[in-house]
Amino acid sequence: MSKLIKKIYIETYGCQMNFSDSEIVGSILQKAGHEIVLSEKEADIIFVNTCSIRDNAEQRVFKRLREFRSLRRKNNTIKLGVLGCMAERLKEVLTEQNIAVDLVAGPDSYRSLPDMLYQVEAGIKTVNVLLSEEETYEEIDPVRLGSNGVSAFISIMRGCENFCAYCVVPYTRGKERSRNPETIVNEAKNLFEKGYREITLLGQNVNSYAWNEPQNSINFSRLIELVAQISPLLRVRFATSHPKDLSNNLLEVICKYPNICRSIHLPVQSGSNTVLERMKRKYTREWYKDRITAIKTYIPDCSISTDIIAGFCGETEEEHQDTLDLMKWAGYEYAFMFKYSEREGTFASKKYLDDILDDIKSKRLEEIIQLQQTLSKQSNQKDIGKIFEVLIEGISKRSKDQQFGRTSQNKVVVFNSSNLPIGSYVNVKITSCTPATLKGEIIH
Ligand code: 5AD
Ligand code: SF4
Repeated sequence: MSKLIKKIYIETYGCQMNFSDSEIVGSILQKAGHEIVLSEKEADIIFVNTCSIRDNAEQRVFKRLREFRSLRRKNNTIKLGVLGCMAERLKEVLTEQNIAVDLVAGPDSYRSLPDMLYQVEAGIKTVNVLLSEEETYEEIDPVRLGSNGVSAFISIMRGCENFCAYCVVPYTRGKERSRNPETIVNEAKNLFEKGYREITLLGQNVNSYAWNEPQNSINFSRLIELVAQISPLLRVRFATSHPKDLSNNLLEVICKYPNICRSIHLPVQSGSNTVLERMKRKYTREWYKDRITAIKTYIPDCSISTDIIAGFCGETEEEHQDTLDLMKWAGYEYAFMFKYSEREGTFASKKYLDDILDDIKSKRLEEIIQLQQTLSKQSNQKDIGKIFEVLIEGISKRSKDQQFGRTSQNKVVVFNSSNLPIGSYVNVKITSCTPATLKGEIIH
């Protein structure tokens, strides 16, 4: 059989984890001899790496698949594949007549993609959505797709076993498993040597990372320490943490290493104890507040961001007010905010009614967004006059005379350019702000 060489375009939807997965897919395909292209116009094969977390995420992907299908109608040599969470959840729907993709591959089956492509080439539709208890793609060195050459993601674990009542992830991504720490540290070292200066360690719940060998037990605190020790010039971030597992030990490690970023994402979902219980989040409002207090005590300059769901099953106005109240108390720097979206197969879809009217969900979400805008603005205003070390990421889109970068707290800073190289650090004094960005001047 002659070697199959194709031009493949990968389009990614959803979370950072998915972007990281696309880079793993890119690497597997490149090793097999294929070429990764950056536009669908150049491609023989189009892969869409998909997200199932909310209905609107899936609708966006369906819309895109329809567009690609009409492209395929014009050029019937183009093949279409669906990867990721929707592949797992909707395998039957995706191969049906009205979508009719050529290939469906779930998050644990990417190693089989090169073989699957031979089948596609032979005109056979191919599906692999087997979930694994071991796959971590540990030795695969991801290609960096669309990277700025400064920041990169490293996946440290896969899957999730928390089974929050609303969430589809445990069903689409399977059991929790941690990746060999040696391969993680090596990947980080290689990135640093190539000039990268910021890496984000990724997992659905990084705090439950665990690598157990007889003489070598490594938890997340130890892992992040090993990565931080690579170089003081390498910034280390992590996402996402579950409040039930955020330990003081991790906060101590963060304190010890100035290059572990002063920024923690701690999804609260709701500020009401009764909602948290219905969501099966396994912590209370009081526990959550205690974790925030601990962060602020250990790391006073730490920024805190969160995820919030508006209008979960049975949510009363009082429970919603509890969320607003907790947001004010925590003073989040940033939040990802969503309307509850029922997902088939989850505990909530089986046991509760999705009984909050869409108008009410929208109104509550709007209140949450408005409040967060005020909190973000207040937080930015507090930064005026302070000096931050900024890692330079590029030239500002608005003006060639300005560069931008990020603080350890993960805030974007724009400043007048001295044409400093991307990936270098500069001290910037903040002079003004918008709700989303800080502006400042370089301090020499
Ligand atoms: N509806 C709305 N938001 C959801 N999330 C997860 N599942 C749902 C759902 N069914 C949100 C949570 C999670 C983030 C990644 O997505 O806030 O932390
Ligand atoms: Fe990522 Fe979750 Fe979406 Fe899957 S469902 S792509 S894990 S956000």
